[in-house]
Amino acid sequence: MTALQKTLCRILRRDGRGHAAAADRAPAPAGRFVVRDASLADMAEIQAIYAHHVIHGLASFEEAPPPISDMIARRAAVLAAGLPYLAAEADHRVVGYSYASGYRPRPAYRHTLEVSVYVEQGCRGRGVGKALMRELMARCAAGPWRQLVAVIGDSGNAGSIGLHRSLGFRPVGTLEAVGFKHDRWVDTVIMQYALNGEDPGPRLAEAPAAAR
Ligand SMILES: CC(C)(COP(=O)(O)OP(=O)(O)OC[C@H]1O[C@@H](n2cnc3c(N)ncnc32)[C@H](O)[C@@H]1OP(=O)(O)O)[C@@H](O)C(=O)NCCC(=O)NCCS
Repeated sequence: MTALQKTLCRILRRDGRGHAAAADRAPAPAGRFVVRDASLADMAEIQAIYAHHVIHGLASFEEAPPPISDMIARRAAVLAAGLPYLAAEADHRVVGYSYASGYRPRPAYRHTLEVSVYVEQGCRGRGVGKALMRELMARCAAGPWRQLVAVIGDSGNAGSIGLHRSLGFRPVGTLEAVGFKHDRWVDTVIMQYALNGEDPGPRLAEAPAAAR
């Protein structure tokens, strides 16, 4: 972490946004970080956040960090699908991001989205991930989608499993040893959240063939 990042995280900590111990964690006060739409200019910082987790973690099954050009293209695809791509900003720096994407490309999946969220390593456990996910879920709930799916790399990923559980996602299955990363077999945990549960009728026309 750079000196600036360390300072930023100290500021977050002082504000009581949350602490390493769950008992100390408090709801994030408004104003110290904001969740907003990510911009093109954010993508370098977002790429750096993701690169850390790709290199050091098991949440993503990518093994080499994608270059910024790929991250920009991925964001463009999310936006082109009418889906949210969000950033958390504190003191003019991006400290986390979240986005939704189509769960699987075949057309009958069109009401189902996959959610992703990553927080800068030194700023974890302070409410940033939850704020990013809350806003993402609200945006998705305002659209025609029905189900959110989190595909969590590593059944030992307590942070991600805890985050999704705290937001009402329920575990629906574990795919065992489907990944091999950092010299070991890695599970994926699938968690699911039903949006708009009162109104189950599909509202999206069949996707065009090109999108399948
Ligand atoms: C998972 C991640 C996004 C969570 O973001 P975060 O800012 O650290 O989490 P928050 O501080 O917002 O915590 C939100 C909730 O998650 C839970 N949580 C967070 N860390 C936890 C941990 N280590 N163990 C158990 N629960 C945890 C807490 O219950 C908290 O709920 P509460 O507000 O009711 O106490 C972040 O840790 C991260 O980037 N991890 C690495 C990448 C990753 O796993 N991404 C998810 C891919 S699906």
